[in-house]
Amino acid sequence: MGDQGEIDSGIQQYYSSVFDEDARLTTRSAQSALEFVRVQELVGTRIAAGSRVLDIGGATGIHAKPLAAAGHHVTLVDPVEEQVVKARRHGTFQAEVGDARHLRFAADTFDVALLFGPLYHLRKADDRLQALKEAARVVVPGGWIFAAAIPRFIHHAAVSLGKTPPTPYPQAWINTLESGTPTPGGRFPAGHFHTAEELEGELQTAGLTDIELHAIEGSAGFALERLPNDEALLQAALTLVRRTGHLPGIRDLTNHLMAIARTPTNAPH
Ligand SMILES: C[S@@+](CC[C@H](N)C(=O)[O-])C[C@H]1O[C@@H](n2cnc3c(N)ncnc32)[C@H](O)[C@@H]1O
Repeated sequence: MGDQGEIDSGIQQYYSSVFDEDARLTTRSAQSALEFVRVQELVGTRIAAGSRVLDIGGATGIHAKPLAAAGHHVTLVDPVEEQVVKARRHGTFQAEVGDARHLRFAADTFDVALLFGPLYHLRKADDRLQALKEAARVVVPGGWIFAAAIPRFIHHAAVSLGKTPPTPYPQAWINTLESGTPTPGGRFPAGHFHTAEELEGELQTAGLTDIELHAIEGSAGFALERLPNDEALLQAALTLVRRTGHLPGIRDLTNHLMAIARTPTNAPH
């Protein structure tokens, strides 16, 4: 999968007919529950009651639904119409087709923007910057931006699970580590994988402030992909990631990274 046009077509096909995103965080594994709970707590413990939230790349509403149930005013945007149709069925938030690079909303329409998808589906840094700037534009000064990324170490999950060391060491893994361009192949239309420092740099370039970086699942997340959900396991993994998920050197060892930032209060959009 090469240029962005090809990735965008892959996104349409993958999320409409190959992969059931609606079930990803509810039924697949203990990692699913960990990701869901952790994302909800990273967002829910920071934003004010009754926030206007734009969920960009919100798919079928897995995060929009509980945020709306918690009293926030949520609007979901996703490029895949089939997912937007499913999202609308919840009936508790707005949902429409759209792209992170070109939002139709006026400046300062929202208090919070979530980008849980666009950054790892956009290959070029310019496109990711545009998506971040668009999110910042539609959020009020001093509002919140939450952006998820896939770390470059993701291919090394197999090694961290204690499987046979890869010999010869796959050149494609090294390429991903060096450039962030995901290994071609597989069905997931991947655009770019980040290091935590790179993600922080992209948010800084977009003019965002007060940047925090966290592992979403943390270092237990890879093992949990192989295990069924279990409450004790979930609580242990949550304890681990809450204590260590912000630490440089550990935060990249995770299924997903989360950048959290504020929009600037002193600059015009
Ligand atoms: C892995 S899913 C994540 C869904 C959900 N936000 C979550 O956190 O579980 C990635 C989502 O990003 C969406 N997406 C991909 N490229 C996008 C873009 N350029 N603008 C907005 N959304 C995009 C996809 O359609 C898909 O629904």
